[in-house]
Amino acid sequence: MQLSSAGRSVTILKEIDLFVPNKQFISIVGPSGSGKSTLLALIAGLDRPTEGSVAIDGASLSELSEDQLAKLRREKIGMIFQSFHLIPTLSALENVQVPLELRGDDDAVSQATRLLDTVGLSERSGHYPVQLSGGEQQRVAVARAYASQPALLLADEPTGNLDSKNGKRIIDLLLKLHQDHGSTLVLVTHDSALAKLADRMITLHDGSIVEDTICRHSGNI
Ligand SMILES: Nc1ncnc2c1ncn2[C@@H]1O[C@H](COP(=O)(O)OP(=O)(O)OP(=O)(O)O)[C@@H](O)[C@H]1O
Ligand SMILES: [Mg+2]
Repeated sequence: MQLSSAGRSVTILKEIDLFVPNKQFISIVGPSGSGKSTLLALIAGLDRPTEGSVAIDGASLSELSEDQLAKLRREKIGMIFQSFHLIPTLSALENVQVPLELRGDDDAVSQATRLLDTVGLSERSGHYPVQLSGGEQQRVAVARAYASQPALLLADEPTGNLDSKNGKRIIDLLLKLHQDHGSTLVLVTHDSALAKLADRMITLHDGSIVEDTICRHSGNI
């Protein structure tokens, strides 16, 4: 993966060879700047690799049109990123409602209300993203991802902005989504205890995978 910065080409990821089986929970760790967010953006089809390819469920992303890619993202991928990507013109509740309504659920409002309650934001449902703190926006993003029950859930430092109580809430919700709906979970984190809860931990350094370890754990926190 190369990006042009100030006229110079910078190689960010090199020779990444990663296969994530369906329903696996993998964590990605590594120092700041090692390429974790870039890797997630490639997997999500938000960036395109300069070389190589990314495939989801056998579909090579580079062969899809923008419309097909948007459809695949909407139907299969849930994203919780360092920047939250909430829709600024919609309230917290409406942001969570969107995937439910796209799916045609009749009770989108009550489901979204329940999910906001689960992430501790029932008091805030009418607030717009700009009126919410970073951590609160993060929790709305998790509730929204939960609502869409994606086959693939990509989370970039989902607890980075949160205190430990709210951080645990988010992680419990992500793990529940992974366990109850069999969502494949790719989680970027700086928290090594959290990273070890995964089935497998990938360590990035300077844009390369330097370790790929199977974790031994009980599966609970
Ligand atoms: N658009 C861009 N143009 C040039 N360089 C970029 C661009 N985006 C990211 N980079 C560089 O790519 C490298 C990897 O960035 P990335 O955001 O993937 O790191 P990260 O592992 O997620 O770091 P952090 O833990 O701080 O979030 C960094 O050196 C960053 O400066
Ligand atoms: Mg990052």
